[in-house]
Amino acid sequence: MPAITATAPGKVILFGEHAVVYGRPAIAAPVQQVRARAVVAAAPLRSAGELFIDAPDIGLHSFFSELASVHPMAIAIRGVMDELGLERLPACDVRITSTIPLAAGLGSGAAISVALIRALAQFLGHPLPDERVSALAFEVEKLYHGTPSGIDNTVVTYNCPVYFVKGQVLETLQPLAPFDLAIGDTGIKSPTALAVGDLRRLWQVDPATYEAIFDEVAEIVQAARQAIESGRPEHLGALMDANQACLERMGVSSPDLERLIASARLAGAAGAKLSGGGRGGNMIALVDATSTQAVAKALVENGAQRVILTTVRKSV
Ligand code: PMV
Repeated sequence: MPAITATAPGKVILFGEHAVVYGRPAIAAPVQQVRARAVVAAAPLRSAGELFIDAPDIGLHSFFSELASVHPMAIAIRGVMDELGLERLPACDVRITSTIPLAAGLGSGAAISVALIRALAQFLGHPLPDERVSALAFEVEKLYHGTPSGIDNTVVTYNCPVYFVKGQVLETLQPLAPFDLAIGDTGIKSPTALAVGDLRRLWQVDPATYEAIFDEVAEIVQAARQAIESGRPEHLGALMDANQACLERMGVSSPDLERLIASARLAGAAGAKLSGGGRGGNMIALVDATSTQAVAKALVENGAQRVILTTVRKSV
């Protein structure tokens, strides 16, 4: 059996994070500059059933049989076995590497799951369709927080911009004109589960207030979709600012994020907002040829641990 490699991109949520957990739409796009990679190779010298995982980025070197049953990789591997009706695996080595920062809102968990599920299924002779890959990765996402919307596994699996509503048929988005983003990392690791859980408690106490904010976000997302599909990305800046204001009212922003957002706007970005779970992790700024370098410099000067420049464009 030849070694099989699969990769999956990082992602950013452009509009609608958190409100998407409550049934509102969101827009997300892949980030090709960072990727997770899984390589599965036969290990003929070991006995059948022994799958060894080497994931140096997260310090994991372990046999599958030794992983806790709730470990994300155990869930992904068992998902593939159940999908294919297998009780045992051939002896193999799985190596997982990723350049996607962890717990930073860039979809690293989903990308690792998708790469692993794809590579393992293909190694076993049964490549899975995107729909099943995404569904299996969704089972792993549930581990990170109990109520994932499914947006991360979806955008990472389909590898194209998406308009996403939880539980509805996926709609891919085709930007009529490409647009550029600067992604700035606060360097603060912030598990999505915490922000999602805190917001849920606030919503439980005062549903009317938070439902109204989610409705505002839904309108922003619709306007953003129109701007993207009609080739007027210059409208997205003001919409990002409006979405950020809603996220601040949800309590999922942070002083570090707001410092980067303010510095990007001051340096010429057309708009900026946090992206993903918030509290830390990454922010995004809408830039163009004249502002990109100044915005990237301002982000670094204001504490960004790294800046990724990416373009959102039509999938090929
Ligand atoms: O995984 P993150 O940090 O990009 O956040 C996912 C987006 C949320 O809306 C906050 C949660 C979800 O499940 O959609």
